[in-house]
Amino acid sequence: MKYSSRQVESTQVGLHPALEETVRKHLAHPFRKPILEHNRRAFEVVAEFVARRNAPVVLDTGCGTGESTLFLASRHPDATIVGIDKSAHRLSKLSAQGQRQPENVVHVRADLVDFWRLAVEAGWNVHKQYILYPNPWPRPEHLMRRWHGHPIFGCITAIGGQCELRSNWRVYVEEFAEACRIATAKQLPVEVFRPQDYATPFERKYAMSSQQLYSYYTDFNQ
Ligand SMILES: C[S@@+](CC[C@H](N)C(=O)[O-])C[C@H]1O[C@@H](n2cnc3c(N)ncnc32)[C@H](O)[C@@H]1O
Repeated sequence: MKYSSRQVESTQVGLHPALEETVRKHLAHPFRKPILEHNRRAFEVVAEFVARRNAPVVLDTGCGTGESTLFLASRHPDATIVGIDKSAHRLSKLSAQGQRQPENVVHVRADLVDFWRLAVEAGWNVHKQYILYPNPWPRPEHLMRRWHGHPIFGCITAIGGQCELRSNWRVYVEEFAEACRIATAKQLPVEVFRPQDYATPFERKYAMSSQQLYSYYTDFNQ
């Protein structure tokens, strides 16, 4: 199959000038938007699954169709893998294909903005969270929609564990790395990422269109 996905286009070529101020403001003030009831119920179902298995937790945040969650389950056979996405349409695709769900995997439809806060409220400390190809929101005025510019960013760092971000937009990964430096005082590099196997549909699409991919890794527990 031939792939031709478009590169991210943006007038922003480096870190957003308001990044540091935005991140510091969000880290200093708790995010008070009320949590929606359906997200709370979704979290409770996942929390029960997690408690029953009593294993390290790996989050696949914004898992789309959930294909990546199955990939991660094969990489972390001893962990509980939680795939979270707000799109019921995307999440329904795997079961429509009759894919078997490994017993260490749960998929949940929820808004991450609430899920992350509920996880912090519940005192979770995860083994690893993956943020694979988040929506880039490339327009400069959309900085606050990128996860590191969003008021939720402090919760991403607060649930601890290792964290791996991948994107086809270098600026996104550099900003995320800088936001992590501001939050943790640790400076870690952005790497060019060359996948051996494709963990997600977006990864496959970008790599097969010869797009450069970038990754960032940190450990919030260290
Ligand atoms: C660009 S897609 C990447 C999907 C998948 N990670 C992949 O690489 O194939 C971004 C995904 O994030 C999900 N998403 C965006 N904002 C979200 C939110 N607030 N809560 C949950 N999922 C969200 C979207 O529904 C979408 O499936």
